[in-house]
Amino acid sequence: MDQSLFDSAQGALKNAYVKYSNFRVGAALKLKNGKIITGVNIENASYGLSNCAERTALFTAYAAGYRKADIESILVTTDKEYLVSPCGACRQVMRELMPDDAVVFMSDALGNTKTLLNKELLPLGFTEDDL
Ligand code: THU
Repeated sequence: MDQSLFDSAQGALKNAYVKYSNFRVGAALKLKNGKIITGVNIENASYGLSNCAERTALFTAYAAGYRKADIESILVTTDKEYLVSPCGACRQVMRELMPDDAVVFMSDALGNTKTLLNKELLPLGFTEDDL
C-alpha cells in the first residue's frame, strides 16, 4: 500500500460531515496518472441520504472527467484501530465505476491493511453485462 494514499485518506477524515454518527470515514482514489482524489462521508438529517466516503471519492473523480479505466486503486480508512470494509451500496457503485481488477485497500488508523480486488468484494454482482 502506498503511504501517500493512506496519508491522503487519513488527512481527509477531518472533513467528514458526521453530525449523526460521529463515525469518520475517509477514502482516497489513486488514478493511473498518479493523481489522488479523496472523499469523506457526508451525512444528512434524513439518514438514508448520507453519502459514504468511497462514493464521494468516486463521484468526485467522475465529475472531474475521469472514468473507470483511469482508476488504479481505492483506500478506505477511519480513525479507529480496526478495519472497516465498504458497505453494500458502495460495493455496487465501486463495481460500476472502477475496473474489476482495481485494488481495494482497507486500513485502520494505525496503517494495518487488508487488500482485495474490486471484483472480490461483490461476487455475483449485478453489472452492465446483465442488461
Ligand atoms: N460509511 C462510509 O462512509 N463508508 C462505508 O463503507 C461504511 C459506512 C459511513 C456512512 C455513515 O456516514 C457512517 O459511516 C456510519 O454508518
